[in-house]
Amino acid sequence: MKDFPASPLVIAHRGYRMRFPENTLPAFDAAWNAGARMVELDVQWSRDGRIMVHHDTSLERCSNGKGMVREHNAYFLRQLDAGSWFSRAFAGTVIPFLEEVVAGVPEGGWLNVEVKPEAVSEAKNMSRMLASLMAICAPLKGRIVVSSFHHGFLKQLARLPHAPFIGVLSSRWQKEEALLAFATELKAFAWHPDHRGLEKTVVRRMKEAGLRVYPYTVNDQDRAAALLAMGVDGFFSDDAEILKGRDGYDST
Ligand code: G3P
Ligand code: MG
Repeated sequence: MKDFPASPLVIAHRGYRMRFPENTLPAFDAAWNAGARMVELDVQWSRDGRIMVHHDTSLERCSNGKGMVREHNAYFLRQLDAGSWFSRAFAGTVIPFLEEVVAGVPEGGWLNVEVKPEAVSEAKNMSRMLASLMAICAPLKGRIVVSSFHHGFLKQLARLPHAPFIGVLSSRWQKEEALLAFATELKAFAWHPDHRGLEKTVVRRMKEAGLRVYPYTVNDQDRAAALLAMGVDGFFSDDAEILKGRDGYDST
């Protein structure tokens, strides 16, 4: 695939989450500065339809706000502090708009936008939601993988005339047969499984069907090595530098 980062690919999970407040501009900047070639982030929609970069549906864990992201307008959400919960050094860090993260992607960098299932379930107008997502990501000129646990959403996405690369996310309890059939029907680019319990035979099957395989979320070096030995193309990690210095790994 032209321009797609070579394997093994470490996808910086929620930015450089291990050392920075997740899903914030400092975390994304740090990941790019550490040599990441792809960064993952999670999106939710504000009440007034802005795309906010935030993992949880609720605000409590990663900000000083209360309630759900979708219950508040962007103006309110932008007043919140999304850094202090991690460290006082990040006081005043805001919940980013997706367009801010897109603007910070360096040349050749790729984004993986994970659309949270609750955001889709609550959506009143799916086509407007898809249109705004694709418009905001247009400056990336195709350097984007959109993924979701909400497979109905991925189906809609795949029908777009200029559909992005699609990553099919799955939990460890979903059956590989059904996932493979679904990913094939969608012409998905990649499978993003839970790394726990992942087996070599399944990885091989998925790869034989033409899918890239990127398990989440791997922070242990021995587990990373074991997964790479199974044939995965890379993995999501909170540690953007987990493979740095390893033989044969080029982060640039
Ligand atoms: O996209 C991979 C991974 O981020 C999926 O799980 O909960 O960390 O968003 P979660
Ligand atoms: Mg995610």
